Amino acid sequence: MRALCWHGKGDVRVDTVPDPKILHSRDAIIKITCCAICGSDLHLLDGYQPTMESGDILGHENMGEVIELGSDVTNLKIGDRVVVPFTISCGDCWFCKQGMYSCCDTTNPNAEIAREAMGHSPAGLFGFSHMLGGYSGGQAEYLRVPMADVGPIKVPDSVSDEQALFLSDIFPTGYMAAENAQIQPGDTVAIWGCGPVGQFAIRSALMMGAGRVIAIDEVAERLAMAEAGGAETINFSETDVYDELMSRTANRGPDSCIDAVGCEASGHGSADALLDKAKAALYLATDRVHVIREAIMSCRKGGTISIPGVYVGMGDKIPIGAAMNKGLTLKMGQTHVQKYTKPLLEKIEAGEIDPSFVVTHPASLEDAPEMYKKFRDKEDGVIKVVLRP
Ligand SMILES: NC(=O)c1ccc[n+]([C@@H]2O[C@H](COP(=O)([O-])OP(=O)(O)OC[C@H]3O[C@@H](n4cnc5c(N)ncnc54)[C@H](O)[C@@H]3O)[C@@H](O)[C@H]2O)c1
Ligand SMILES: [Zn+2]
Ligand SMILES: [Zn+2]
Repeated sequence: MRALCWHGKGDVRVDTVPDPKILHSRDAIIKITCCAICGSDLHLLDGYQPTMESGDILGHENMGEVIELGSDVTNLKIGDRVVVPFTISCGDCWFCKQGMYSCCDTTNPNAEIAREAMGHSPAGLFGFSHMLGGYSGGQAEYLRVPMADVGPIKVPDSVSDEQALFLSDIFPTGYMAAENAQIQPGDTVAIWGCGPVGQFAIRSALMMGAGRVIAIDEVAERLAMAEAGGAETINFSETDVYDELMSRTANRGPDSCIDAVGCEASGHGSADALLDKAKAALYLATDRVHVIREAIMSCRKGGTISIPGVYVGMGDKIPIGAAMNKGLTLKMGQTHVQKYTKPLLEKIEAGEIDPSFVVTHPASLEDAPEMYKKFRDKEDGVIKVVLRP
């Protein structure tokens, strides 16, 4: 089959590779009908995630048609149209039973490497390095889906591929980010990053009763999409974000702050950000934490910081003293996707949201290397790429 493979920093190619096979009785094989490129894939493209190997197949936002089933998968049938969570979770362990699917204790065969780095291993993820399981991703013609009796959900005929696909990741991710922000009715929520995750966080925060959402980015078409979704905006390359947030909230600060940017934050030329960039380039620190710093400084006393943005290793000069003395709550994590797929599918079916609003670039799998670069460089108005193999 054809598949998008990682070959090193800045180098992804579509290669011909062996087709996946059923390896376990809880597996399914799906024929991918569509898949997407995520901001998390850019961290892989840019070499931030350790334990990638040449030839790894990327892609964790996947849907398709079931073509083969292991003997223990009884909830799906051949021919079913399914969307697949990016988190691979067993459904049986203590964490899965609590609904903490991205913390599944049993699905990372390389748990020891993750334990060394993090103290404990989170769940295995599709297409996301060997320390997170070494599972092949779905930017390909076919995908092996482990734990297929727990993860994939059937998509009704009334919901299109483009409406359903983002249940695999970015809609639940934006939604959980808003839940983690502990929004009370009427609250002011500031959201850094108007990429796809930020866009879903904006709409989710408003669904949860936020009074105002202030969205921060520098890319014109992303700010315009944020405004279309009901947010006020700040362009960080033109305005000092802290000063502007204080002036818009009578110096109190936003009640909640959401970091939908993650480890590759741009620092708009500030000294702390230049230092982060230099340290990251020299491998002295892995993550650029400019947005976490700005969110901690801006958040009102007693407020909440929610971090869906991905961090991979060490962050430098996080103002923990400010967070402590201001009494902030910090909540974060990879999304517990399986917890959200069914309730959010119901919202789509009820017409409360049409997630396809975010798609700007439909493309073929063969176009994927070019689309990765356009998405990274924010060229040509790209906000979300959907690939059809
Ligand atoms: N927690 C999870 O389970 C999960 C799931 C999906 C994605 N993510 C992560 O969420 C983050 C966003 O993903 P995405 O697909 O929207 O990515 P993206 O790269 O399209 O969006 C990031 C946006 O942040 C903006 N930005 C950069 N520096 C900024 C700054 N200093 N202030 C404000 N905005 C800034 C960029 O201009 C860009 O529009 C990534 O880190 C991704 O890995 C996490
Ligand atoms: Zn993702
Ligand atoms: Zn589990």
